[in-house]
Amino acid sequence: MAIQKVGVVGCGLMGSGIAQVSAQAGFPTVVREVSPELVEKGLKGIEKNLARLVEKGTISEAAKGEIRGRLKGVTSLGELKDCDVIVEAIIEQLPAKRELFASLDSLCPSHTIFASNTSSLTITEIASATKRQQRFVGMHFFNPVPVMKLVEVVKTIATDPAVYEEMVAFGAKLGKTPVRANDGGGFIVNRLLVPYLLDAIRALEEGVGSVVDIDNSMKLGCGYPMGPFTLLDFVGLDTTYYISQIMFDEFKEKRFAAPTLLKRMVLVGWHGRKSGRGFYDYTDPANPKPMNL
Ligand code: 3HC
Repeated sequence: MAIQKVGVVGCGLMGSGIAQVSAQAGFPTVVREVSPELVEKGLKGIEKNLARLVEKGTISEAAKGEIRGRLKGVTSLGELKDCDVIVEAIIEQLPAKRELFASLDSLCPSHTIFASNTSSLTITEIASATKRQQRFVGMHFFNPVPVMKLVEVVKTIATDPAVYEEMVAFGAKLGKTPVRANDGGGFIVNRLLVPYLLDAIRALEEGVGSVVDIDNSMKLGCGYPMGPFTLLDFVGLDTTYYISQIMFDEFKEKRFAAPTLLKRMVLVGWHGRKSGRGFYDYTDPANPKPMNL
């Protein structure tokens, strides 16, 4: 059955981006948040992104209106019951995701495909809360979703191969380059990215170089768009900390263990760009200053 209508659960940083690219790709898209305020905040962010695309001449004012018209923000899960695909992008906690999908499982018709945007939990653990493990995949997008070209499409040993291929094709319809990944902790990107980011913190702890010098090294020496500390602040130190804990739990390997400094920074609430402080101070967001760590 062709995918016609898309549901997105969560309208935060990732969910709003996923809803935006879905509506831009032509799908009527229902996006759910827990409160009207959060729905409003997510949709405002999308409108701002679309206005920027109009300013740059990427889309017309009319196209912007059509894209916005395809988006519906809701607070009730019941409004997602006639979606052909539902992509979840809520908090990175297993019990919350399992509870959500168990509810959706009883609400949605049997053909609806479920996808989780989890970055580090295994899809199998989430899917096993439902009775449709054969129609369950991972769709892991990257921040900022409207810009980053990749989506990891993740299959478990229980995913129906035809459903999987449909979701790979859906990823392409969203304008992304889909890569196929198996359900190993962290899939492809975070399996490689997380140890790299954690190693940058260890290098700082060991006095190998300063925040700015380590960032410049990877930017200018390796052509990365952001150095590791800028990227850590961008992704969120709390998020990185949770991911590292989940991956350490899965692999029991030191390369996934959170460095002491990361834990301390999360404990004091320095979560990166979104909290105003991380490895940099964002008091003047256009001109971040390295923290004295
Ligand atoms: N939303 C929408 N568009 C955005 C955006 C946002 N949040 N941020 C930037 N953009 C757009 C800009 O409008 C601009 O578009 P244009 O080229 O058409 O004018 C384009 O992106 C480039 O932006 P800027 O010129 O302002 O800045 P940069 O050239 O520095 O690019 C960046 C910004 C795209 C974020 C770039 O720095 C980058 O690629 N950084 C690395 C990001 C990354 O690694 N993301 C993955 C994180 S890991 C992850 O998400 C997985 C999770 O599981 C941890």
